[in-house]
Amino acid sequence: MTTTPTTAPGTRPVRPRRSNLAVPGSSQKMIDKARTLPVDQVFLDLEDACAPLAKPDARKTIVASLNEGGWGDRIRVVRVNDWTTHWTYRDVVEVVEGAGANLDALMLPKVQSAEQVVALDLLLTQIETTMGYEVGRIGIEAQIENARGLIAVDAIAKASPRVETIIFGPADFMASINMKSLVVGEQPPGYDVGDAYHHILMSILMAARANDKQAVDGPYLAIKDVDGFRRVAGRSAALGFDGKWVLHPGQIDAANEVFNPRQEDYDHAENILDAYGWFTSAAGGARGAAMLGDEMIDEASRKMALVIAGKGRAGGMTRTDVWTPPES
Ligand code: GLV
Ligand code: MG
Repeated sequence: MTTTPTTAPGTRPVRPRRSNLAVPGSSQKMIDKARTLPVDQVFLDLEDACAPLAKPDARKTIVASLNEGGWGDRIRVVRVNDWTTHWTYRDVVEVVEGAGANLDALMLPKVQSAEQVVALDLLLTQIETTMGYEVGRIGIEAQIENARGLIAVDAIAKASPRVETIIFGPADFMASINMKSLVVGEQPPGYDVGDAYHHILMSILMAARANDKQAVDGPYLAIKDVDGFRRVAGRSAALGFDGKWVLHPGQIDAANEVFNPRQEDYDHAENILDAYGWFTSAAGGARGAAMLGDEMIDEASRKMALVIAGKGRAGGMTRTDVWTPPES
């Protein structure tokens, strides 16, 4: 008799997730359109963008659409319903049995505890084993959408090696804490509460970074207000988030741009890496601290530069300015 692992093994590939497109799983038209859009990730939704009566058919539409292919490099995710509903197990069983080979991750909304992640991990392991899939390949994206989830976010991030991302769900979160606003991601109008989101975003980011996960910001509902999207996305990008949801094609370019470094920062980061590599080598004098133009660089500069260069490379950026060692 073989024993089923309680959690899946392995390290996970880190893929760019600057733009994460939400697509109702009940809309074949929007699913077909999603295959043509320049996003890093698509998630087909069985939860809040899918009416209760439409969920059974949407499961079938999603399975067929994943198996049909045409998704290119996009990360293929399905958002199932949360564990407090009666839909979750059927979502998981139907989608993973039907299309597990063509699925990269499941998104679990309204996660409140590490146990809820473990429950999904165990169910996935059973289905993968039964179906002869590689055990542990399918990832989990955990959405933090209420006070309980935020308080448990570190335990949630480390609950399973399948967890790839921690996602902020601002709409549900605002409702759950009774925030006085209907403008998702912005200040409650007429109140000065500083940055209402700073604590939430930083708590998610700390849990993600402490556990080597990606941090993703949720939706901006005013889909025509691209400046507003840029402002809110800019805040999470500046903190260090890896990407944000997009609800409409008009938000995609802004997301891909905002979560890439600026061109000058990318060039500068690559130059720091090259220059520091040279200065620390025998040819460059084996120095641990050196001047790059007017700037002193050392090992900590290299670490900062690695982050920016890594994001730029993952986003397909190319250098427009290349440092060369001084003539000796
Ligand atoms: C997304 O699911 C949200 O609630 O904002
Ligand atoms: Mg939500």
